Amino acid sequence: MELVPLTSPEEVARVAADIVEELVLRRPDAVLGLATGSTPLPTYRALIRRHEQGSGPAWDGVRTFNLDEYVGLPAGHEQSYLATIRRELTDPLGIDPARVHGPDPSQAGLPTAGERYEAEIAAAGGVDLQVLGIGTNGHLAFNEQGSSLGSPTRIKTLTAQTRSDNARFFGSFEAVPLHVLTQGIGTILRARHLVLIATGAAKADAVAAAVEGPVSASCPASVLQLHPHATVLVDAAAASGLERLDYYAEVYAAKPSWQRH
Ligand code: PGA
Repeated sequence: MELVPLTSPEEVARVAADIVEELVLRRPDAVLGLATGSTPLPTYRALIRRHEQGSGPAWDGVRTFNLDEYVGLPAGHEQSYLATIRRELTDPLGIDPARVHGPDPSQAGLPTAGERYEAEIAAAGGVDLQVLGIGTNGHLAFNEQGSSLGSPTRIKTLTAQTRSDNARFFGSFEAVPLHVLTQGIGTILRARHLVLIATGAAKADAVAAAVEGPVSASCPASVLQLHPHATVLVDAAAASGLERLDYYAEVYAAKPSWQRH
C-alpha cells in the first residue's frame, strides 16, 4: 500500500485527478470504478475543469461502474447514485450514459441484482482503477463493519451511523434508505488499482484503523492491506491519527521520478 500524505483537499483532488487521467491517457478504453459521497467531488470537478479547458484525455472510450446504489428511491431520484455520478462526472465529461453502470435497485430485480452486476463488470474485463472513499466507521463502499472480506455485490442494511452521516443529502435521517446494493469487498479487491481518498478530521480514526490496524471485518477498509496495488491519498487532517506519518512522508519524498502511483 502507498500512503500519500498531502496537505489539503485541493491537493488530494489534484493528485487523484492526475492518477485517473494518466490511466485514461494510457488506456483510452479504461474501466473506472466510481465512488459517490462528498470526498471525490473535488477530484471529479478537477477532471471536468481540465476537460473543459481541453487539457484532459478523450473520455469517449471509458466505461464506468458505480460502487453502490440505494434501494427504494423512486426512479430518477436525484440522490440515486447513478443520477449523482452522471450529474457530477460522466455527463460533464461527455461519457455516453450507456457506458455508465450501477447496480440495478428495481424491486423486481433485487434477488439477482448482485449476480448480474458482477457479470457486467466481468464482461467489461474488470475494473482497472477503483476510486474509493471511507466511512467514519471504516466502511468501504456500503460494506459495513462485519461484512465478509470475500463478499460479492449484494443487498446490505445501512448502520445508523452511515444513515446519519448521509442525512445531509436527504434532509433527514429517516429519509435515508435503509437498504442498498453494494459491490462486495471481494468485488473491490478484484479491481486492478485501488485509490482511496480521505479528507478531513472526521476520517482520521478510520484511516488509522484501515492503514495501521489489523486486517479485519471490523474495519472493512483495512482490506486494502491485502491488495497488490492500493494508493491512499490523505490530507493533513485525515492523516492526523497515523503513527508512522513521518515515514510515509519520507517514502513519498524519496519516490523515484519514474514510478507511477
Ligand atoms: P463521504 O463518504 O465521501 O461522503 O465522506 C465516504 C463513504 O461513506 O464511504
